[in-house]
Amino acid sequence: MRFFLIFSFCCFTVLSQRQYFDHKFLTIRTSLENEKVLKELAQKLDFHRFSSRLNGKNLILLKPHEIEKTKDLLKKNGTTFEIKDVGYIKYSGKGIDYLSTRGDFNISTYNDFDLQMESLDSLTQKYKRKVKKIVLGETFEKRPLVALKLGFESKNSKPSIFMNAGIHAREWITSSSILWLINELLSNESYKEFLKDLDIYIAPMWNPDGYQFSRTKERNWRKNRRFYEDPEDEEICVGIDLNRNYPFKWKHQKCSNENGSGPVGGSELETQALMKFLTKNKDQLKGYIDFHSFGEHILYPFAYKKHIYPTNVEELKLIGKKMQKAIATVRDTEYDLINIADGMYPAPGSTADYAKSIGIRYSYGFELVPDGKHGIDGFNVPDTEIEPTGREVLAALRVLFERIIRDDEKTSLNQKTRTSMHL
Ligand SMILES: *[C@@H]1O[C@H](CO)[C@@H](O)[C@H](O)[C@H]1NC(C)=O
Ligand SMILES: *[C@@H]1O[C@H](CO)[C@@H](O)[C@H](O)[C@H]1NC(C)=O
Ligand SMILES: *[C@@H]1O[C@H](CO)[C@@H](O)[C@H](O)[C@H]1NC(C)=O
Ligand SMILES: *[C@@H]1O[C@H](CO)[C@@H](O)[C@H](O)[C@H]1NC(C)=O
Repeated sequence: MRFFLIFSFCCFTVLSQRQYFDHKFLTIRTSLENEKVLKELAQKLDFHRFSSRLNGKNLILLKPHEIEKTKDLLKKNGTTFEIKDVGYIKYSGKGIDYLSTRGDFNISTYNDFDLQMESLDSLTQKYKRKVKKIVLGETFEKRPLVALKLGFESKNSKPSIFMNAGIHAREWITSSSILWLINELLSNESYKEFLKDLDIYIAPMWNPDGYQFSRTKERNWRKNRRFYEDPEDEEICVGIDLNRNYPFKWKHQKCSNENGSGPVGGSELETQALMKFLTKNKDQLKGYIDFHSFGEHILYPFAYKKHIYPTNVEELKLIGKKMQKAIATVRDTEYDLINIADGMYPAPGSTADYAKSIGIRYSYGFELVPDGKHGIDGFNVPDTEIEPTGREVLAALRVLFERIIRDDEKTSLNQKTRTSMHL
């Protein structure tokens, strides 16, 4: 059975994923002479933009086997064209091919995306009564966006919290420590009460395309892997910063920047999948956390501008302080508690702002280990940090879980009507 599962998972994934390193972009400006040939090409090639306007730009994605044929045809036809690479345009640093050392899932190290997903499957098999797997969407390269729902079945609907890690590809410690924490919540009986009173949604990897790219090609890759042509850059870009893409106070940032925010707010599949889930379930959702690294911060909104805070900022700070103290009990790590824009930098279109904007009461971001003194190396955390970091996060989460449960008990006494979650 296990062999069968692994086999079918592996091959399904491989077949369904799209990789574009070997594709090319073809651009042709429409003219009186090439109108006809363009119309013919449009019948058989993948046009990302077709323009019948004179001098308008046509953007065509060529599959490997189409490249030479199309070039020949256009040359013979006397049509001028331009060919550009699709793939990793910007960075030049090396990635590390961890895929070649692929074995079984190992909770103490950095596993590739497929192994992470296999581990979620085996947890759902093992703890059937406590956990369900839900697929909330799919990425550009056709990888699933998966969350686990931790919590016992209940006749009454329960308050819930949603958390995600791995939105930024290179921040590996986030998803690995969250995977450790999921294991602990399920295997350690001392968390049973939380699972009775709460539904805990955890998505350990919200940018699998970027993550795989950071493992195999560019260790410091941050964004997703969609390509598009940014009207302001006049360039074909790869990757959008998923923590700048939400349609709350969204602001255009050039795609060649690390914080390139996409053509419009909410343009990305990853963004859309999360928005859909959060908005559908906003009545039950009392908490939201977006895990990042690094810096050792507990972060509260708003992020889009300095000196602007949600109406319940005092409450967010109060609980933030308690979480800070809880973290320090694990091994004396001193997280600070800061507003995102004031303490770091303004970040319009962020997940934490979006969650807050739709009415989720306790919305936070975390920057996990290490502290801010490591330059780019802060993303390369030794795997011995996975477990202690998971313990620290879990200590903070207990504070938030308890708060949400207490709030719910209070409102239940007030005979609040409850609705159920929409998956
Ligand atoms: C280019 O292709 C079009 C459409 O097939 C054709 O009508 C036209 O004659 C061709 N021009 C040349 C110079 O080959
Ligand atoms: C799991 O990973 C840890 C950390 O890299 C390593 O020490 C250990 O040997 C690995 N276990 C297995 C069974 O490969
Ligand atoms: C279970 O969690 C508690 C804290 O809630 C901890 O003290 C205990 O050591 C854990 N048990 C195991 C077996 O890890
Ligand atoms: C986006 O990145 C650019 C380049 O690093 C920087 O100048 C700009 O301030 C950033 N904008 C925001 C809103 O973070």
